Amino acid sequence: MRSIGAKRLGSSTRTQDFTTLLAVFCVLMKVTTCRAWHYSGRIATSRQMLSGIGPLLRRKSFIIHPATSTKSRQHISITANAAAEGSRGSAAVAQDLKNSRETQKERQGKLDLNPPRGTRDFYPEDMRTRSWLFELWRQVARDHAFEEYDAPVLESEDLFVRKAGEEVTEQLYNFEDKGGRRVALRPEMTPSLARMVMAKRNGLVMPVKWFSFPQCWRYERMTRGRRREHYQWNMDVWGVSGVEAEAELLSAITTFFKRVGLTAEDVGIKVSSRGVLAEVLAALDVPDAKFSATCVLVDKLEKLPLEAIQGDLTALGLEESVVRRLLDVVQSRDFPSLETAIGAKSTALAQLRQLFEYARAYNFEEWLVLDASVVRGLAYYTGIVFEAFDRKGELRAICGGGRYDKLLETFGGEALPAVGFGFGDAVIMELLESKGLVPSLSLGLDALVFAMEAGLQGIAIRAATSLRAAGLTVDLQLEARKTKWALKHADRLGATYVVIVGPEEVAGCNVRVKEMATGQQHVVAIANLESWISATFTTTSPESAFADSVNRS
Ligand code: HAM
Repeated sequence: MRSIGAKRLGSSTRTQDFTTLLAVFCVLMKVTTCRAWHYSGRIATSRQMLSGIGPLLRRKSFIIHPATSTKSRQHISITANAAAEGSRGSAAVAQDLKNSRETQKERQGKLDLNPPRGTRDFYPEDMRTRSWLFELWRQVARDHAFEEYDAPVLESEDLFVRKAGEEVTEQLYNFEDKGGRRVALRPEMTPSLARMVMAKRNGLVMPVKWFSFPQCWRYERMTRGRRREHYQWNMDVWGVSGVEAEAELLSAITTFFKRVGLTAEDVGIKVSSRGVLAEVLAALDVPDAKFSATCVLVDKLEKLPLEAIQGDLTALGLEESVVRRLLDVVQSRDFPSLETAIGAKSTALAQLRQLFEYARAYNFEEWLVLDASVVRGLAYYTGIVFEAFDRKGELRAICGGGRYDKLLETFGGEALPAVGFGFGDAVIMELLESKGLVPSLSLGLDALVFAMEAGLQGIAIRAATSLRAAGLTVDLQLEARKTKWALKHADRLGATYVVIVGPEEVAGCNVRVKEMATGQQHVVAIANLESWISATFTTTSPESAFADSVNRS
């Protein structure tokens, strides 16, 4: 295989003519050996290239440009090969190459106003909703006596690279920094949390019960509810080996669902245990070392036909009889069938039974569904695993988690029991929006203060300052405007009051206060403004709006 050497060509007519000629020349020379052409920022195989030439010639506007350096050319070739393997990460690459218009925009010298593909801007109105969601999550975590923590979004690549064939490793946003270190944007929080716990292990009081809202980055193929960055609510418990920890975490998840207005008819939580697979593998003498990779493959069976991963199973040295037995066990959907499949003495089965009993005590049992097919795609889980899903089956997993008692060992530390979950913002917002459960949140403006004349701005400033000191959210009009405009503006912003600083009122040491809801106007002494408003006022700041909506649910 060899590449066609083509110089980067401009977009002038002459250049286009030249590129057209070059393409025709390639066809005439029956060039079938070229590996990839880079045109309009896309990659084509030789066959695609030949079939694509017809329309391109008709349009006469294509641009051939190789990658700008040998290095990037190599990179593109590699990712194109990976795409052929059909993994989710590489499918994302293929999707990107197919759809990307960025290079074209760059060439035209225009700034692309969209955020990078798969990422989001949060304009203030979006931010209000995001804060509302985070505040609900935070409240639930605090109600369960968890403490908030954070870690850098950029971590050492090693922290995330595992050899079990997980999607999350294939989807890593990784690169070399200016100091030559391999780094990655975190795809999940758990490894960072493990690093933090390991670093201070001797000083930490167990159990550690921590929560966070990390932004996570995955080079995903984008589908409904799946993006390249998302926020996750994480709650984890370290130092507890019993299912009491799992039960407490599921309590937090179901408390959130209830507070936000969802019911057990809308959402369920599938629960299983990797302990079931561990017991089956042990009974069949499959070495422990194959456990994680086997779980990752069994998880893939949910999405892919057996033939698609048969090669991986064989590479792992799993005999067909083992695979058949595993598939048989994961069919179980209730306790009697699971007992039949793995025997009444199973420890994993006893733990699952215990968890369901605790769920009854907490009063969230109706949300749980025993489903042995839930294995989860992350390599580090060792015991109970769970995943929340919408009962209509339209969305991808709402949240997921499980027990990972051996993660510290993989980092060279001493094992420490741990369990936790990650709950993304994207899928839940889709669900809440579809059910009309997202409140419309206003800016929460208590008052707009405005001076009718520039000379009165000083008095307006004093009025605004005293109201802010009294705890109100106050917008001070910064440019001279007509009263009509200011009132309209206050209406747009949803202000409760407008404080009008006019020459007539000021002459009498007063201001005029208009109640926007009723239209009533009051002349209030400047000296009494703060106490007058505080006495008549119910604050509508965003914090109190969030608190109201949290309390209502
Ligand atoms: P995960 O299943 O990979 O687990 O992700 C947890 C949740 O994050 C998913 O259920 C989904 O809500 C959300 N999520 C994941 N990827 C995306 C994406 N590309 N776009 C939008 N949302 C997404 C973990 O990350 C584990 N670290 C969770 C955990 C914490 N286990 C123990 N502690």
